[in-house]
Order: sequence, then C-alpha cells, then structure tokens
Amino acid sequence: MSVKADVAIMMGSKSDLAALKGGFQTLKEFGIPFTARVMSAHRTPDDAAEFARNAENEGIKIIICAAGMAAHLAGVIAAHTTIPVIGIPMACEPFNGFDALLAMVQMPPGIPVATVTAGPSGAKNAALLAVSILALSNKELAAKLKAFRADQTKKVLEADKSLQEELKKEGFC
Ligand code: RP5
Repeated sequence: MSVKADVAIMMGSKSDLAALKGGFQTLKEFGIPFTARVMSAHRTPDDAAEFARNAENEGIKIIICAAGMAAHLAGVIAAHTTIPVIGIPMACEPFNGFDALLAMVQMPPGIPVATVTAGPSGAKNAALLAVSILALSNKELAAKLKAFRADQTKKVLEADKSLQEELKKEGFC
C-alpha cells in the first residue's frame, strides 16, 4: 500500500529538478511523504489546474511550486486551491531568478503564495516551512524540528569555536 503524500512538490520543468533535491532530502529526513511532479502553468495549464483542484481531496496538505522566468506556477496553483502554497523562484538566464522572485512574490491580495528565496536554499527552506506547518498538528514532528534547530545551533557554535582556535594558532588574535 503506498503512503499518501502530505506535500506535493511541483516544478515547471524537469530542468528545475537539480535545485530541488535538497528540499526532497529535507522532507525525507523529517519522514514527510511527498510526491513530485513536472507541471507547467504555461505548457500544461489544464493539468496544473486539475492537480490543484484535486489536491485537497487527495490528502495533500501543502503544495510547493518551483518555477523560473515568468514564474506563474505557484500563483496559478494557489488560485485553484485553499491549501497553503509555497513558491520557490528558480534561477534562469538572463535574470538569475530575480524575474521569477518578482512574479511569485507579487501576488494580488486574496491569493497568497509564501515565497522563499531562489534556488537550492529556497528549496530547503520551502521544505522546512512545510515541516513547520505540518508540525502544528503533529507533536512528534514539532519535537524533531526543535531538535533540528538545536543541532544547527550546535554546529554554528562549534564552527565559531574552531575559528577562534584557528585565528589564535595563526597569530591573528
Ligand atoms: C519555467 O521555465 C521552468 O520552471 C523553468 O525554470 C524555466 C525553463 O524551462 P525549460 O525551458 O528548461 O523547460 O517554466
């Protein structure tokens, strides 16, 4: 029996995939079942709209949309569902994601898209934001998220400690 996906990750093109793998990994580490699809607001508009309209009935709780250039995917998906939509602008030539960022973040009032930064960092943060939303109704997940943050803090403190040692050793301070 296949597990139902809590999160759907949609990408406007398979060329977006490499930038999204870190987000897949994050969801996997938190044990979140997800599905990933290539669908485009422009090239497969009917399929994208149908997917969004069915998502809630399919048990999907959050949709993450990655797209570049005139990035309408997240906005179009959000127009067809009331479940939370998170947008990840993809960096494409010649404007390196600034075009997609503006297209995603500039939604008219009434149809929100929670837009994260462009590229691989955005993919990781989109996944973490999805985890935060799911953790609101899942205590085990909330505890995992707090542990993740504590571990991240520990790593930065360790990095600072090692920097201080290096600076001392090299006679800088
Ligand atoms: C967008 O156009 C896609 O999300 C992708 O980022 C960009 C370029 O798509 P391809 O021409 O690589 O398929 O819709």
